[in-house]
Amino acid sequence: MAQDGARMGGWSKSSWRAKARVQMPDYPDQAALNAVEAKLSRHPLLVFAGEARTLREELAAAGRGEAFLLQGGDCAESFAEFSSNSIRDTFKVMLQMAMVLTFGAKVPVVKVGRMAGQFAKPRSAPTETIDGVELPSYRGDIINELAFTPEARIPDPAKMLEAYTQAAATLNLLRAFSKGGFADVHQVHQWTLDFASGERAAQYRDMADRIQDTLDFLTAAGLTSDQNAELSTVDFYTSHEALLLEYEEALCREDSTHPGEMLAGSGHMIWIGDRTRQPDGAHVEFCRGVVNPIGLKCGPTTTAEDLKELIEKLNPKNEMGRLTLIARFGAGKVQQHLPRLIKQVQDMGANVVWTCDAMHGNTIKSPSGYKTRPFESVLAEVQEFFAVHREHGTIPGGVHFEMTGQDVTECTGGVRAVTDEDLSDRYHTACDPRLNASQSLELAFLVAEELSSLRQERMRAAS
Ligand code: PEP
Ligand code: CO
Repeated sequence: MAQDGARMGGWSKSSWRAKARVQMPDYPDQAALNAVEAKLSRHPLLVFAGEARTLREELAAAGRGEAFLLQGGDCAESFAEFSSNSIRDTFKVMLQMAMVLTFGAKVPVVKVGRMAGQFAKPRSAPTETIDGVELPSYRGDIINELAFTPEARIPDPAKMLEAYTQAAATLNLLRAFSKGGFADVHQVHQWTLDFASGERAAQYRDMADRIQDTLDFLTAAGLTSDQNAELSTVDFYTSHEALLLEYEEALCREDSTHPGEMLAGSGHMIWIGDRTRQPDGAHVEFCRGVVNPIGLKCGPTTTAEDLKELIEKLNPKNEMGRLTLIARFGAGKVQQHLPRLIKQVQDMGANVVWTCDAMHGNTIKSPSGYKTRPFESVLAEVQEFFAVHREHGTIPGGVHFEMTGQDVTECTGGVRAVTDEDLSDRYHTACDPRLNASQSLELAFLVAEELSSLRQERMRAAS
């Protein structure tokens, strides 16, 4: 690797260790940590380099406006909520959303789950105080436990092995769902969840009827799923925040088909969070050296200078699809922050995919005391994101949501309005509040409208 290290300015899969680190645990038992890292580094990779490269190509299409990225899933996957039903239901909702976007906006949708590895969480405060008792913050199931006891909050490296096992099982199921018939477009009606009702569910059923009609026509004309993998299977990718670098390093390996190239084998796409994007910090250092597509969260404090340095580090060859900028400013703030980043990207002639995380700038504490996100704010941020890109002639390449297929009550609003009083009913998230299935589907219809009107405007302008 020495030769490769020299080529990449001293990078190796452990060069992050010499950099300043934030948001990572101090494991009290160094020997236990070493043993886990050694063991994990012998475990098989979860994803393959060829898949990560294909995703890069698909993201490049999104960057050019020829596809659209739908990235979604839990804020934090949890050991307690792990079940095949919850994986299946999130997968179903994402298929439904993708279908709505493809049908409404006439673009292929790149589907990327916040799944099979989304375990480690950055926190705004290092400790949490309840009734005068102060304990270290919960940092995700891969690090410590949610229970409010001193023991539960001690970082335990063995949790990395449990997270790996859960990620492997999740990915195994996702691969089966993607390729095993479940995602066949002829199943378009079957993806509707049992509890789905209301206007949007009806709108989805109407759309599914029209798709069914088209498929019947195609079958009559001799085109069937057996001959067309595009109709009978989907590509579904995984992603997570690359926060716990000991875990990432242990799963980082050389791509045997491209000697010298290193893959983060923990997921197809990894991203750098808004709290860990210091240009000279450990997280940027790790991510710059791997071949995976990289996401970079951009928040209200991201300066144009920081962005310049980050783009130079993370995408030195200026390849489209390598770097996705995930804007997360909050409703009412996009106009204030996004233009300076767009200008920086334009000044550099940088190739990036622009996407909108409409969740993390919109978290509030509700009067009843729950951490929530109003559906209206999530939608407003997406609309502002589209409006700014429309103004600048740049390309909105995707959306990023915290969502679940479960019928939870964590975000307020939506057509089947969740009220503040409802939040306590089914509030299950281990971290941030997620959109439920009906809120997610509703958003997909609204995003499809934005996308399709932008497309029509640009087609008119071009003709
Ligand atoms: C997240 O995506 O869960 C997250 C913590 O986001 P951000 O880094 O943008 O705050
Ligand atoms: Co979150």
